[in-house]
Amino acid sequence: MLVSSNTLLKDARDKGYAFPHFNYWDSNSIRAEIAAAEELGLPVILAWAEKHSPEIGIDDALALGKYFGSKAKVPVVLHLDHGTDPELVKYGIDNGFTSVMMDASDKDIEENIEITKDIVKYAHTRGVVVEAEIGHVGTNETEDNSMYTEVDAAVRFSKETQVDSLAVSIGTSHGVYKQGTPKLNFERLVELRKAVSIPLALHGGSSSGDDNLEKAVNRGITKVNIYTDLANAALFEAKKDYHTETEMALAQREAMKKLAIHYYEVFGTDSYCYQILK
Ligand code: 13P
Ligand code: ZN
Repeated sequence: MLVSSNTLLKDARDKGYAFPHFNYWDSNSIRAEIAAAEELGLPVILAWAEKHSPEIGIDDALALGKYFGSKAKVPVVLHLDHGTDPELVKYGIDNGFTSVMMDASDKDIEENIEITKDIVKYAHTRGVVVEAEIGHVGTNETEDNSMYTEVDAAVRFSKETQVDSLAVSIGTSHGVYKQGTPKLNFERLVELRKAVSIPLALHGGSSSGDDNLEKAVNRGITKVNIYTDLANAALFEAKKDYHTETEMALAQREAMKKLAIHYYEVFGTDSYCYQILK
């Protein structure tokens, strides 16, 4: 069943746990993520990111997401991740995503507000929820232009845009870290959580360290985005010596599923979210 993330994220915020957000890029990854959620009996956020367009375009991603999402035995949020092109985000809203991220975090705050406001209006009249980003979570391999989220800016941004959830930058980056686990600014996170009433999302969850992620969740993060760790789990299996393609694909699916279950446990989803399904 496809659902909105609103109730889920609000429940997580109230009770102090988080939902994992898993990116999918093919049928094996989406099956693994749904299998993990079904094994635990928990809702799942499945996300296709605009940057995956060369590998899988929006229409194919929507077809996969809607097909597997509607036959899943658990609630599924179908999320468009890091949409940088407002036209593509509107297309996603019109064609089946139940949640979208309008990412104008590389623009100045005025422009970010204008672009996000417009998408929020468009999405809300169509029953779709919106995440936006303020500050900037960079990428380790190609750039390192991360910028911490300022508290005043976050307050102003959420008020003026009426966005449903906010991605904040507190020291994580997309991809694998060059040196160990990152140092996160928990103090800033606590201030943000106090000042902003909407759910907060943490991008760049992979390789951030379970301890860091658990602390971030305890201090107010309600959704943690995971992509690279899942892709690397599949890659690790691909390097092993399997006799058939099928054997390899199933091993990859199992490895991704195990990792997804692990993250549900780290974020406390498995302990607190039971009531939602009742
Ligand atoms: P990682 O690839 O670092 O897990 O980041 C995922 C993400 O933020 C997707 O939006
Ligand atoms: Zn991200």
